[in-house]
Amino acid sequence: MNQRPTAAGTNKLWGGRFDQPPNELFYQFQRSFPFDRRLLPYELAVDRAWALAIEKVGILSSSETQQILAAIDAIAERAESDPSWLDLSPAEDVHHFVEIALVERLGPVAYKLHTARSRNELVATDFRMFVKDAAQDVSRGLVALITALVGLAERTMGVPLAGMTHLQHAQPVLFSHFVLGHAEAFFRDLERLSTARHTADTCPLGSGALGGCAFPVDRGALAKELGFSHISANSLDAVGDRDFAVDYLYALAGLAMHISRLAEDFVLFASQEFGYVLLPDEYSTGSSLMPQKKNPDAWELLRGKTGRITAALISILVTLKGLPSSYQRDLQEDKEPLFAAHDQALAVAQIAAGAVSATHINPARLLAAAEDSALLATQAAHYLVHRGLPFRQAHEVVGRIVREAERARESWTAMPLSKLKSFSPLFESDLGRELTLESALASCDVPGGTAPARVREALAGCRARLEQWTRSIG
Ligand code: ARG
Repeated sequence: MNQRPTAAGTNKLWGGRFDQPPNELFYQFQRSFPFDRRLLPYELAVDRAWALAIEKVGILSSSETQQILAAIDAIAERAESDPSWLDLSPAEDVHHFVEIALVERLGPVAYKLHTARSRNELVATDFRMFVKDAAQDVSRGLVALITALVGLAERTMGVPLAGMTHLQHAQPVLFSHFVLGHAEAFFRDLERLSTARHTADTCPLGSGALGGCAFPVDRGALAKELGFSHISANSLDAVGDRDFAVDYLYALAGLAMHISRLAEDFVLFASQEFGYVLLPDEYSTGSSLMPQKKNPDAWELLRGKTGRITAALISILVTLKGLPSSYQRDLQEDKEPLFAAHDQALAVAQIAAGAVSATHINPARLLAAAEDSALLATQAAHYLVHRGLPFRQAHEVVGRIVREAERARESWTAMPLSKLKSFSPLFESDLGRELTLESALASCDVPGGTAPARVREALAGCRARLEQWTRSIG
């Protein structure tokens, strides 16, 4: 039977000064255990470190410490093997849950563990540990996504794309160049995630409820034991600071926005009008009504997830705005949106990586579109510049040629040289050689440009950066 946990008799954490037990509805309303139980592994790690720290200052004897450590291990094992134990617990939060479980096993000596510490610093510490691990997991997912993009860029090397701005034909680029453009955005997300990991890497333990610890615990040793690089500098700030969560959610919102833009390109390119990419069966769905349909649902859902991931960032910013110094219970609202955004972001990175890997292109359609003569207009202007005409004038000349061709309903690249010379005497018979898709591509020969040699260079660069990231993420 799934009994609903109730408030009665559970408020041992703070009940001393109260005449009445909490209102049942309010008790349920204020409980965080249903979601902060996810922090249990971190809470138990913090409890182990704390037991050792207060043993050193003489609060626990060594046999009490050993008893507490053994009980913590037993709690970890049971929580792992019997999740329904947690479902039925009436605990207010994860800290309370551990205390109840310890007291059940050890009796009153268990209460000693909570000496000189506060749930305010516990939750801040647990949550920081969660965010550090979470950012690492999502970073691994991102590395897989970038690897998939680099793989696609490699498989499609040499295929041109009608590059667009304002969704209008602009200049030719390599399809691989377009793909690697998306990879760059995800590299920036890795940087942001690493910033979030860094901001979270400070240990608040020893801050007490707000003023610091009244016993001389070794804060540096506690931090080190829990894998933190730094200790917090101010106890008031430490219990009320959630900037690490903001940084993490900002990184996730950026990642979601980038995936959404990638998704939009693929949805467009898979439409019949473009036909540049083929939708992989494994990442598409059909229509229950129209038998011919194959829909880009994976990309659409990836694009759609951006709303709720971004909402989590707004949610925490609004929760934090206007809070007075130190801990306020509003801060409990930090966890649910962050957990949800993390779960979604992890799934989004994974699915996007799979969809990219499974995507094939239609080189014939890409080539046909890239052969649009309009894409060579800039190249023609540059031809005139190379022959001494100031660019603004060259732009004007080619603009007039294109307009004339449009009026005559013909391709301007098919105009005879004699006619082109009437627009500018600088046009010569070598123009035909210069005005090709290949020469237009090859001309953007600067680092970061779309010339094939540069794109091959960029591919190698991406591979090297991926290796570095893999090493640094661990
Ligand atoms: N459940 C609380 C939270 O998530 C833990 C800290 C509670 N502290 C307190 N003084 N009520 O923020």
